[in-house]
Amino acid sequence: MNVAKTCGKCHIEIYAVYMNSIHGRSTYEKKNPDAPDCTGCHGEHSVLSPRDPESSVYPTGVVKTCAHCHAEVGIVGKYGIEVDQVATYEDSFHGIGIKYGLKTAASCASCHGTHNILPHDNPHSTVYIENIPRTCGKCHPGANINYARGKIHIDPSKKSAGIVFYVAFFFKWFTILILLGLITHIGLDLYRRSNQWRELKMKQRM
Ligand code: HEC
Ligand code: HEC
Ligand code: HEC
Ligand code: HEC
Ligand code: HEC
Repeated sequence: MNVAKTCGKCHIEIYAVYMNSIHGRSTYEKKNPDAPDCTGCHGEHSVLSPRDPESSVYPTGVVKTCAHCHAEVGIVGKYGIEVDQVATYEDSFHGIGIKYGLKTAASCASCHGTHNILPHDNPHSTVYIENIPRTCGKCHPGANINYARGKIHIDPSKKSAGIVFYVAFFFKWFTILILLGLITHIGLDLYRRSNQWRELKMKQRM
């Protein structure tokens, strides 16, 4: 319970920001053992600069650090937080980019922040609807409010994905029906050809 204060002796500004974040408040006000203090994200004796590719907070390492808790029902599930955010991120353009080493793609921290992480309905959150154009705009110059219109974490196999669900559903069955039609067509064609061939044989025999 003193870790943040210990690191905060020297990292004063970060300490102040962290104490107002969801993780800071959860750990120190609510005394929840599941939320991260400084070492929850930075490690203990392994603290490294975010510019070191080996660091747990290097852009391509952050996802694993957040996923350590946010993909676990046993950890964040207790607080009513869904765990599919990690999976939906990994299927996204950014997630695939980061996975293959595209450091410039958005990691969890590029959108949610680091020491200032808050739920998305808090006006101070970097992913609060009105702040989204600025957050996406760091990397997508000219990002406007349309960037905030769609949901970011979506699972196309769930109805809650709205139109994306129906488009995915349509294309799945469309593809299956086309393939079935194609196979039937080939089957009928082969059947006709085998009949023609049999008739030819019969004629030759006569
Ligand atoms: C006694 C003061 C002090 C304490 C306590 C301290 N740090 Fe630091 N920390 C520093 C200094 C000074 C640097 C800069 C070192 C350098 O750049 O060479 C640093 C650097 C860092 C960096 C890398 C910053 C960068 O931009 O490269 C991280 C991450 C970090 N500390 C995290 C922590 C964490 C987490 C804790 C608590 C577990 C902690 N520190 C406790 C003084 C401290
Ligand atoms: C939720 C995870 C998380 C927690 C909790 C966290 N950090 Fe960080 N921290 C990060 C990430 C991610 C970065 C890298 C930011 C970047 O790439 O610019 C970072 C960067 C840093 C840096 C170096 C860059 C900077 O912003 O100056 C220091 C120093 C640091 N953290 C100290 C701390 C201290 C002290 C605490 C506790 C009071 C803490 N962190 C808690 C995720 C976290
Ligand atoms: C050590 C485990 C742990 C780590 C690491 C961690 N979190 Fe969390 N996070 C939690 C817990 C537990 C809560 C719920 C706190 C509460 O509600 O009291 C939470 C809450 C959140 C929330 C608010 C969710 C809501 O609906 O209220 C966001 C957003 C979030 N975390 C994002 C991140 C990101 C991004 C990272 C990585 C940079 C990260 N977390 C790293 C455990 C963790
Ligand atoms: C491109 C930006 C972006 C990236 C990258 C991203 N998120 Fe999110 N996240 C959002 C937005 C925006 C929301 C608000 C709900 C929505 O649109 O789906 C959100 C919602 C959440 C929530 C629900 C709690 C809340 O804030 O209400 C959690 C937890 C979360 N994200 C964790 C993560 C984790 C963990 C990662 C990395 C594996 C990640 N996010 C990557 C933008 C992002
Ligand atoms: C840290 C930087 C960063 C942030 C922040 C970021 N993105 Fe991206 N995003 C990228 C990169 C890099 C690509 C890949 C660009 C490419 O290769 O065309 C990308 C690709 C995309 C794509 C795929 C299509 C395209 O334009 O190439 C979409 C859609 C997208 N981002 C939306 C968002 C939204 C919405 C947000 C804010 C919630 C956001 N991004 C925040 C860096 C970022």
